[in-house]
Amino acid sequence: MARTPVIGGNWKMNTTRVEAQALLRDLRTRLDALAGVEVVVCPPAAWLGDAADVLGGSSIEVGAQNVYWEPKGAFTGEVSAPMLVGTATQVIIGHSERRHVFGETDEATNRKLRAVLEAGLHPILAIGELREEAEGGQTEAVLRRQITGAFEGFDALPGDLVVAYEPVWAIGTGLAATAEDAQERCAMVRRILTERFDASSADACRIQYGGSVNAGNAAGFAAGADIDGVLVGGASLDGAAFEAICRAFVA
Ligand code: PGA
Repeated sequence: MARTPVIGGNWKMNTTRVEAQALLRDLRTRLDALAGVEVVVCPPAAWLGDAADVLGGSSIEVGAQNVYWEPKGAFTGEVSAPMLVGTATQVIIGHSERRHVFGETDEATNRKLRAVLEAGLHPILAIGELREEAEGGQTEAVLRRQITGAFEGFDALPGDLVVAYEPVWAIGTGLAATAEDAQERCAMVRRILTERFDASSADACRIQYGGSVNAGNAAGFAAGADIDGVLVGGASLDGAAFEAICRAFVA
């Protein structure tokens, strides 16, 4: 099954508006119409409108880093999925910082997933184990729990969904997983999706690796048979580095 690699740039809570606009223009120059990969830029919520303006008409897609599951109402500070329509096409859900800094549960992830799909947006579902879970041999159990929780009540694996496998110990630490370990874990995620749903939808699903991806290690991840792209944090704030990462996935 040929899966088009998808590269996500998660800016997290970085950039002033001026910096964001400059980076968006730089990314458009570098990556517009790059064939063979899908590129999704996820700036802070405050700059999503700027991203839509600067990247409009280009091949680069805009993603949100988070969403709330209710469509509207008295939820101060939150942004709903219907509000993102027309600005973003993708939404990261369940990022480890949402789970571990803000205490998001698997149930919250499930509700957000439903809201995003209902709005016709494409989810990037992030999962991954903590260092102590990895060291305790619990990685597979944790991934299974996160996948089961996120898809509670789902009859089928949504076709437009991307799973990002991001070991928490590799995020923002400079300690990326080895290409071999990342491949093995992404294959594990695909196996769990096969068991939860079926082989053909799991085979079609794109699975990213994330955690300290940079211009130097991206090619190793690109070589993994089950690694269909990467979700990039720190290095996505550097136009040249992000371009190099995207190009590493061009076949
Ligand atoms: P990092 O972040 O590339 O800075 O490790 C990855 C992520 O959080 O998606």
